[in-house]
Amino acid sequence: MLQDKFGRVIDYVRWSVTDRCNLRCTYCMPEENMNFVPRKELLSFEEMEQMLRVFGDLGIKKLRFTGGEPFMRKDIMRFFEKVAEDSRIEHWHLTSNGTLLLPHIKRLAELNISGINLSLDTLSPERFHQLTRRDSFSEVWTCLESILENDIPLKINTVVQARVNFSELKELAALAKEKPLDMRFIEYMPFNGNASSQRDFISAKEIENELRKHYQLHAIPMAPGATSQDFKIDGFQGKIGIIAAHTRTFCGSCNRLRFSAKGNTQTCLYGIENVSLGKLIKSNASDSEIKSKLTNLISGKPRNGFEAEAEMLANSGQHRSMSTIGG
Ligand code: GTP
Ligand code: 5AD
Ligand code: SF4
Repeated sequence: MLQDKFGRVIDYVRWSVTDRCNLRCTYCMPEENMNFVPRKELLSFEEMEQMLRVFGDLGIKKLRFTGGEPFMRKDIMRFFEKVAEDSRIEHWHLTSNGTLLLPHIKRLAELNISGINLSLDTLSPERFHQLTRRDSFSEVWTCLESILENDIPLKINTVVQARVNFSELKELAALAKEKPLDMRFIEYMPFNGNASSQRDFISAKEIENELRKHYQLHAIPMAPGATSQDFKIDGFQGKIGIIAAHTRTFCGSCNRLRFSAKGNTQTCLYGIENVSLGKLIKSNASDSEIKSKLTNLISGKPRNGFEAEAEMLANSGQHRSMSTIGG
């Protein structure tokens, strides 16, 4: 079992399988000149299988595969087949932009995937194009419908920004009325650090106030380790959630470890990337060497996202793109 020095049990790994993405969301990446990880530095499938085994041995119960976009990694389904076979992993999920997923949905349902989180920030194809710099709204919409047809639990992640989609919250929330899915509104994390990105920040409280103008929200108590404050609305099929990703009100019960496409670790979303595990994996280390390194890394997990951020800024001076961290 992995436990940090504050007694928190770490049983959830967010695993970014690639930093590449076919969209260019303005809050995540610049339009051009992204320095993606060279393919030979990514973990091989054999190394990923080793880590799947190690995580299972260490008591990890939940895996979430993120990117970039996970399906930018060709053959990733081959790996998901292995994940589905591992009975120690009780829940496994995907966070995806929904542009490349469609051909794999039926098989993911057969493999009993626990759920899919789709990123979708607007219901307007034009705004989608502006925001992601790609014209892919209809692909994402088709994917959303197919996920529901295949009875896979679905959550929609919407990053809320002042001049972008704040005016659309009422309509976006109504999706959870029309369809059996959960909508989650996420505080924008201004990782670009420039003045204009700060200007677009809308807090969880402001999101809640805006939604309350249109709907009667009934708060559901948050489970330990959850990031989303969920609400029920009478007559809605799904829930509405608000994620205080930037105000960070949920760090106390954090149960997460982040694991990158290169095998590096980050014990907090706001913290420092540690490269020692990646190097170890690439040196053909044994399972037991990797386990003792991981145990050691977890003991350094910061108390919360504010301490982690202060340490990270003192160390490197800037946030990295979310596509390398995996959200
Ligand atoms: P479930 O709770 O398993 O449904 O998923 P999730 O919300 O953890 O994962 P998802 O990939 O859908 O992330 C939704 C949003 O929550 C993203 O914007 C993430 O960056 C943010 N988020 C996820 N984990 C953390 C965390 O540990 N800290 C902070 N501050 N934000 C997080
Ligand atoms: N702020 C908040 N959420 C973000 N995501 C990506 N970048 C940011 C950001 N700067 C979200 C994506 C995806 C999830 C993993 O993280 O929309 O749904
Ligand atoms: Fe791609 Fe997700 Fe980043 Fe958008 S937020 S560019 S979909 S990795």
